[in-house]
Amino acid sequence: MAQPKILPLLLTATLCCLSALPSRTAASGGGGGKPLVTAITKDAATSLYTAPLRDGRPLVLDLSGPLVWTTCEPEHETLECHHRECVHAHAYHPPRCPHTGNGVADEADRFRCKCTAHPYNPSTGAAATGDLTRVALAANATDGRNPLRPVSFPAVASCAPDAHLAKLPAAAAGVAGLARARLALPAQVARAQGVADKFALCLPSGGGGQGVAIFGGGPLFLLPPGGQDVTARLAGGAALRRSPESPGYYVSAKSVAVNQQQVPLSVHGPLAVELSSTTPYTVLRPDVYAPFVKAFDDATAERKRVTPPAPAPFELCYDSRELGSTRLGYAVPQVDLVLEGGSNWTVFGGNSMVQVSDDTACFAFLRMEEGKKGGYGEGAAAPAVVIGGFQMENNLLVFDEEKRQLGFSGLLFGRQTTCSNFNFTLAA
Ligand SMILES: *[C@@H]1O[C@H](CO)[C@@H](O)[C@H](O)[C@H]1NC(C)=O
Ligand SMILES: *[C@@H]1O[C@H](CO)[C@@H](O)[C@H](O)[C@H]1NC(C)=O
Ligand SMILES: *[C@@H]1O[C@H](CO)[C@@H](O)[C@H](O)[C@H]1NC(C)=O
Repeated sequence: MAQPKILPLLLTATLCCLSALPSRTAASGGGGGKPLVTAITKDAATSLYTAPLRDGRPLVLDLSGPLVWTTCEPEHETLECHHRECVHAHAYHPPRCPHTGNGVADEADRFRCKCTAHPYNPSTGAAATGDLTRVALAANATDGRNPLRPVSFPAVASCAPDAHLAKLPAAAAGVAGLARARLALPAQVARAQGVADKFALCLPSGGGGQGVAIFGGGPLFLLPPGGQDVTARLAGGAALRRSPESPGYYVSAKSVAVNQQQVPLSVHGPLAVELSSTTPYTVLRPDVYAPFVKAFDDATAERKRVTPPAPAPFELCYDSRELGSTRLGYAVPQVDLVLEGGSNWTVFGGNSMVQVSDDTACFAFLRMEEGKKGGYGEGAAAPAVVIGGFQMENNLLVFDEEKRQLGFSGLLFGRQTTCSNFNFTLAA
């Protein structure tokens, strides 16, 4: 494949690390140093979010995944075990996956050690073993307003057997890990395109059209025309934290509030909050969930409930015809995650109430199953809160690895727009 292209790429990567500079390198991909834009679709059957990055075939977006993985052609390039990318592919080890070393003898050349990696399926919780290879991914270069032109770029990816696609959306060809790891997609795009190691993620709601992601960060404009760069007018943010053995995104919260009243918790000290695009609804650790749901229950005591409070898994359901609407969704008490650093992640009705039938809406926060955190860093203490996809929809998020900072716009309905308002018409 694109062998001559790869060498200069590796050289720039090496040079960059030797001089310990931030990962901003000279433009080298076909995108001319421009950020890349891709559309995002929410799969109705699985509630997973995908982007058509692999020859138009979708890859599932996984904020907690350190690798890109996909099914491969029988004939494919393999990287060698001593290759630095092989070492990076083993920086994080999936749960319940035997340690088998960095590779195996190559059947084609028994003196060669062929690198293998462990792709992790966030839906089934299963890990597999596959060759570390290079694949071509595709997106469009963008100025933040429109796609400008298609760009194909090589990415290091792990192969996976077909069976490893279980429980992913029907058309999906694999997973694009977006975590804080060298072989995750944002860092690879940064090196291939010579753009910043950051990305903007705007997840669409189900049935609400396509969302958008821009690798390389902003600017990002949403219709109606004349609007400002959303990434330049964020409502809040917080420092990104690390959790042992997990490459995912964590922030730290001081407290949780319902209706601007602090929820009394039995735990003291900071609350670890993870962001997960493969968790459909926000889950809270049982010690946080119980007082939190009680606070929301109390604050909505006057509202008409739907009894029995089915359907599972929701605990609090309401007659939605009587909830009342605002432009931020149903008129229910707001939920605040009071973050370290002074800003609040505020959840309004649009992100807290899910419509489960024509006249029933349920409070879309769930109890974390005890002892069943799953995913990378499984051995570490469970975070207090895992913010799920539904609570991130129509809220533009900027994950900036260079500044180690998360930024968010807040619910875009407040700005008369949504994540489905990117203009995907190719610029003339
Ligand atoms: C680039 O954008 C055009 C216009 O939206 C779209 O049809 C095409 O599929 C995009 N290409 C890629 C590789 O995403
Ligand atoms: C954050 O939320 C808390 C609880 O609702 C509130 O007391 C505080 O004033 C809010 N802070 C900001 C900066 O909005
Ligand atoms: C979308 O972008 C195209 C190309 O720049 C432009 O012609 C069109 O007017 C835009 N659509 C809207 C609704 O602004």
